[in-house]
Amino acid sequence: MAPRSLPDSRFHIDFVVVFGFFKFFMTKHTMDIFEKHTLVKVCSPMVRYSRLPFRLLVREYGCDLAFTPMLMADSFIKSDNYRKVESVTCENNPLVVQFAANTPEIFAEATELAYQDCIGVDLNCGCPQSWASHEGIGACMMNKPDLISDILRQTRNRISDSTFGVSCKIRIFLDMARTVDLARQLEATGISFLTVHGRTKAERNEPVHLDYIKAIVDAVDIPVIANGDIDSLEKAHAVQEVTGAKGVMSARSILENPALFTGQVKTPVDCINKWCEINTRLDTHFTMFHRHLIHMCAPLLNKFERRIFNNLTDKKAVLDFISDKFNNHSNLEEEESVVVS
Ligand SMILES: Cc1cc2nc3c(=O)[nH]c(=O)nc-3n(C[C@H](O)[C@H](O)[C@H](O)COP(=O)(O)O)c2cc1C
Repeated sequence: MAPRSLPDSRFHIDFVVVFGFFKFFMTKHTMDIFEKHTLVKVCSPMVRYSRLPFRLLVREYGCDLAFTPMLMADSFIKSDNYRKVESVTCENNPLVVQFAANTPEIFAEATELAYQDCIGVDLNCGCPQSWASHEGIGACMMNKPDLISDILRQTRNRISDSTFGVSCKIRIFLDMARTVDLARQLEATGISFLTVHGRTKAERNEPVHLDYIKAIVDAVDIPVIANGDIDSLEKAHAVQEVTGAKGVMSARSILENPALFTGQVKTPVDCINKWCEINTRLDTHFTMFHRHLIHMCAPLLNKFERRIFNNLTDKKAVLDFISDKFNNHSNLEEEESVVVS
């Protein structure tokens, strides 16, 4: 990878030494994560949700690897502001940056820009939304396996650091053999791991096809992360048992309970408090702060409380509500949370 131009050579040497030192201690290489954990617990890429504050939160609760939301690779290349808003920084490792891209040049260039702040990049081939299909990105790319392979192979070859991860997230085809062929073809590009959301492009809440994930695990040698309906630590272990996947990824359930990978079956009060602390420290936008709390608190509030809470419009009102509702009862809440080993 070409080093960025720097003003003078002494600064350049200092920069390289300091950066190398920093990256060494901050970063676990992608494959280290798979070697270190018997079950790698992953927080999904989620547009509008899996941003820096949420990634910081889930890391405190048993998450081994976090993804950014899907970022548009072309905007990431063009706009300093886009990169800044998405807070892709060294402080939130181990991090995988997920991009939407449909050309090798754009994915590779975005990867070079993200390289110093993450342990890997991921190509989104799972987004089923119609706007994505119009743009020629996401799940529609599964019909162009040669294009996906080209994007991944060229990017893999452009990054000289072989410990840096290049990966891909796919859905399944109804045809199992075709799904397995795709996984094999992607493996041959040199990717580090593959995430499989065990539903077709058309499926939303249907049961996850664990048999397809198992067929992929059996067919490839790279680690596979199983995604779809991972709603508890117990379920995560069960899915690993059935599929043989090296890791599990959760989206909707980890939004509701960011502590699910610790075995707690509902959001513990300390997690809600930590969310408030992180957002106060980072001075985040109210909408994101509140939106996450709506998910986290939903199972803990009755219908009437939910209506009030969801309609609050400023941070102080939200903090007061949380304090009244939960912090007066924190001992009770802690007693009630069940830990699954
Ligand atoms: C709010 C939301 C945003 C999502 N954004 C992305 C995304 O940016 N990239 C992606 O690959 N998948 C995205 N997904 C899909 C999830 O990563 C995951 O594949 C899917 O929700 C199935 O997992 P689950 O059953 O645990 O929810 C999103 C899902 C949700 C609910």
